[in-house]
Amino acid sequence: MNQEQWSAVDHYISQTVVPSDAALEAALEASSKAELPSIAVTPNQGKLLQIFARLVNASRILEIGTLGGYSTIWLARALAKDGKLISLEVNAKHTDVARANVARAGLSGNVEIRLGPALETLPKLAEERAGPFDLIFIDADKANIPEYFTWSLKLARHGSVIIVDNVVRKGAVLESNSSDVDVQGVRKLNEMLAKEKRVTATTIQTVGSKGYDGITIAFVN
Ligand SMILES: C[S@@+](CC[C@H](N)C(=O)[O-])C[C@H]1O[C@@H](n2cnc3c(N)ncnc32)[C@H](O)[C@@H]1O
Repeated sequence: MNQEQWSAVDHYISQTVVPSDAALEAALEASSKAELPSIAVTPNQGKLLQIFARLVNASRILEIGTLGGYSTIWLARALAKDGKLISLEVNAKHTDVARANVARAGLSGNVEIRLGPALETLPKLAEERAGPFDLIFIDADKANIPEYFTWSLKLARHGSVIIVDNVVRKGAVLESNSSDVDVQGVRKLNEMLAKEKRVTATTIQTVGSKGYDGITIAFVN
């Protein structure tokens, strides 16, 4: 088993079970043209997010880490007509590209992209009583995952789902002495989850065109 095979299988799945469409393709194309990093979720991961959003009947979704809005589009498509997704992004160029991609997908009425460091925007969302959010997707800088998770719990309700991406990091999550702040961020999340009675959580390792990683899924009890 190697990267070539994981990519080939992801490609096969995309061609069969997860067909793309013009808006999703255009979002990836515009992101690439604007030289955004190629770190969006894969199509099958995007669809998994959408399925979770549908399972919780999401009418309010919070996303931390927008990039070009690719996962935003997958998630927002699960919303009811008057549902709302708020996505947080620190990089102005990313927000510009994402807003255009979301508009092209016909979702501007449901999606708000807020520019700024998420740790500054999250307290504002709490002040505004913007929650509770039915689904929260944490996919920004990994060092701050513990803080994002703490804020997510404040902004969630019983029955919400919190999903955290990139939590295995090619297995580096095992390295307790790692000097990588991203690895330490994930490890701290796991320590929190070990004690946190308010959630039922698990982590699944994943392979695919984006390599070897994993996602944590936490159900708010
Ligand atoms: C992995 S990408 C998000 C990918 C996107 N969720 C998708 O799958 O299409 C991470 C994004 O988080 C943003 N980001 C990094 N640090 C941030 C912070 N402190 N606050 C808000 N956004 C941040 C980055 O600029 C980047 O666009």
